[in-house]
Amino acid sequence: MTLRTASFPVKVLFTCFLLSIGIGYLMAVLYLFLIDIEPHSKKGTGMVRAVIIKYYGQRGGTRLEGALEGAMGDNLSPAQKKEVVAWIRKGATEADFPSVQPIFTNQCAGCHSKESGMPLPPLTTYEEVSAYTQIDLGQSIKSLVRVSHIHLFGISFIFMFTSGIFVFSEVNPRWRALLVAIPFLAIWVDIGSWWFTKLQPLFAYAVIIGGLLMGLSLALQIVLSLYEMWLKGGRSQ
Ligand code: HEC
Repeated sequence: MTLRTASFPVKVLFTCFLLSIGIGYLMAVLYLFLIDIEPHSKKGTGMVRAVIIKYYGQRGGTRLEGALEGAMGDNLSPAQKKEVVAWIRKGATEADFPSVQPIFTNQCAGCHSKESGMPLPPLTTYEEVSAYTQIDLGQSIKSLVRVSHIHLFGISFIFMFTSGIFVFSEVNPRWRALLVAIPFLAIWVDIGSWWFTKLQPLFAYAVIIGGLLMGLSLALQIVLSLYEMWLKGGRSQ
């Protein structure tokens, strides 16, 4: 059987499936855009940067350091700033907190405490300060494991069917084999580079290339299959 010579009900089945998957894919891209890209681009962050923030995190510094680099830096001496930054870099542990606590009490609590009456986050106890010393390491291993296995299982099934339909096309067997394999390669690259981006932000490009390759190959499979079923003329076998 080829797609061109398949019976009418088979063509209808394949067509409905391919159209649903095509629309589903567009929805997935839209979802990704709305969740991962758009909130960042509002703040002027590009797509690569957004992928890096998602998987690698923002390790340049903590919110506390950011504040000290900014307007809050005027509230303490350079030596005190150094001490606080050193404490953060050593892991911002509770054990070492007493060494820097006087700085917070003397330089910051005037405004950053419940007593000050100002609508500011209090910064007197370890718990209060440590809310601002978390380094953002991106997506956790736990959630990476979760989304990786869900995607690998789910998407392999989709490709099994789209490739399984496309494999009956009349495209040259070599090219056909290639186009059957590419979506699987692309998903390995895509998911693999989620993990590598956690280690090295440059892999954000591989995340994007993998995703694009997957979309393009899926689109090509769908378009070629539909074309052969409904538009390609020629003698039926
Ligand atoms: C004179 C009052 C005052 C003092 C003293 C002060 N701050 Fe602030 N702080 C503010 C105000 C007002 C804001 C909010 C506006 C802003 O972010 O610039 C703020 C914001 C912050 C934020 C950001 C809070 C957030 O929700 O992101 C941090 C962190 C911070 N301060 C840390 C400190 C530290 C550490 C010190 C002591 C070295 C300190 N501040 C001393 C007035 C003060």
